[in-house]
Amino acid sequence: MRIDVFTLFPDWFGWFKAQRHVRNALEVGHALEAVDLRATTPLGAGQVDDTPYGGGAGMVIRVDVVAAALHERWEADPIEGRGSRRVIALAAGGRRFDDALADELAAEEDVVLLCGRYEGFDERVHEQLATDVVSIGPYVLAGGELAAMVICDAVLRKLRGALGDESSAVEESFSEALSGDPEYPHYTRPAEWRGNRVPDVLLSGDHGRVRQWRLDSSRSRGDEGG
Ligand code: ADE
Repeated sequence: MRIDVFTLFPDWFGWFKAQRHVRNALEVGHALEAVDLRATTPLGAGQVDDTPYGGGAGMVIRVDVVAAALHERWEADPIEGRGSRRVIALAAGGRRFDDALADELAAEEDVVLLCGRYEGFDERVHEQLATDVVSIGPYVLAGGELAAMVICDAVLRKLRGALGDESSAVEESFSEALSGDPEYPHYTRPAEWRGNRVPDVLLSGDHGRVRQWRLDSSRSRGDEGG
């Protein structure tokens, strides 16, 4: 898949792209690119934002600036091209990001993430250019960049080749394999630490009982609310 992140801070993504699981995904043919919103602005002096109509604090990223960046990238009008790919505007008030949405995005060929800054985007970016408005949680970040990294991280690790062990992304918290429940507890050596023993069933070598214990633990964590 290809993910294009439109941002005023493309340099931030250099660090992210250097991380092992991201590099793995890129090496098997997936693509992640940070596109500088300022590079294609039709306004002078690199301007990308403006004061809000109606007054109030802060600045708003202009719709014509975002449209110009998409136009340049797609070599097509972004309104006409709408619907041919997922275009996700990041905003605190959007649809909450979760594992099901990560699965949905991991199945797409082409995903665009739009990172807001300041007071966010002109509403017409959400209405006319984006297909989705997504939030990573009920708190306000200084911009969408960290939210974009969270989404890229969760999506890329679902792609074949990103993780060392392919089974590890299948049976994990909130996955279908665990009926949407949190993952079961993990233990490793030592079997006893300061009087705290690993559950005997995990040392039993009985794969059927281990499996059942894991499913039961996952379910009861889900019942407790995680
Ligand atoms: N931009 C600012 N806050 C955000 C959030 N919680 N999620 C996504 N984008 C944001």
